[in-house]
Amino acid sequence: MLDIHFAPLQGYTEDCYRRIHHALCGGVDFYYTPFLRLEHGKVRSKDLRDVNPEHNAGVPLVPQVIVRDAEELDALLQVICPMGYKRVDINMGCPFVLQTNHGRGAALLARPDEVRRIGERIAAHQDLAFSVKMRIGLKERDEWRAIVQVLNDVPLTHLAVHPRLASQGYKGVVDMEAFGELAAVCRHPLIYNGDIGCVEDITKIAQAFPGLQGVMIGRGLLARPTMGEEYKKGLRRADGEVVRIIKAMHEGVAREYGQFITDEDQLLRKLRTFWDYLEPTLGRKPWKKIHKAGNMRNYLFAIGELR
Ligand SMILES: Cc1cc2nc3c(=O)[nH]c(=O)nc-3n(C[C@H](O)[C@H](O)[C@H](O)COP(=O)(O)O)c2cc1C
Repeated sequence: MLDIHFAPLQGYTEDCYRRIHHALCGGVDFYYTPFLRLEHGKVRSKDLRDVNPEHNAGVPLVPQVIVRDAEELDALLQVICPMGYKRVDINMGCPFVLQTNHGRGAALLARPDEVRRIGERIAAHQDLAFSVKMRIGLKERDEWRAIVQVLNDVPLTHLAVHPRLASQGYKGVVDMEAFGELAAVCRHPLIYNGDIGCVEDITKIAQAFPGLQGVMIGRGLLARPTMGEEYKKGLRRADGEVVRIIKAMHEGVAREYGQFITDEDQLLRKLRTFWDYLEPTLGRKPWKKIHKAGNMRNYLFAIGELR
């Protein structure tokens, strides 16, 4: 049975969502924070709140960081370690130009020397376990080769690989050929990430790569939050049951956000994102009705109609 990792999605898999997902759906072995980064030498207070252990009680959570160099990693570890975390994930895959222009995320894939320096810092922290989440390249589909060669000598719990180039964003086909080549030379436990949309996709990947340790799923789990549980328990929930669970999750999320967002329009804007990836499970019409609801009354009515 493969481990299930819930991929971090900035703006979606926030502390409140992770807690509620863990409580109501389960089936996920590891959750990750969206990346923590330095801005003017500090971590944003919103991100500190997200990683605060008090907001993540009982959730198997790994903080993720995005860094330009070994020095930024040190600075972020000084913030994370006092919170008591024993694992940290390093983002080497983010394609957003705001990050790559600063040398962070997928930009590291074109800088194996800096990855080597980061690896030396990792090796020096024997009290902490590290993992890396990467793409196959920034612009060139062979860039992973030099990076994996460097990372093979760095102590990591695992390497998670999203086999797209940063220049592809989240579109276009995943490069399974490159993933296969990488799997053949990678000395770390390997996690596959990309476009998993149903339990059958997980079993297909497991069959194609028998040595795989796990899969990391983002948009697919947001679309069908019970997918991890269904895979782990070998069951198929009826669509109506999944919808009931989604409604219960939304109730929890709405209750939490309602505590600190008092303006109704602002609350509605925040809550609407909960549904962004749910169209495949809800169907186009009900999904559109929720998205188009212009006020809280119509919004809650559209949700009430879901079956
Ligand atoms: C809106 C959005 C935000 C994301 N934020 C992060 C992030 O903070 N850290 C990260 O490592 N990946 C981030 N990702 C990438 C996902 O973790 C994942 O690698 C990607 O969606 C592919 O997996 P999937 O096809 O299962 O969704 C983000 C992706 C999207 C679409």
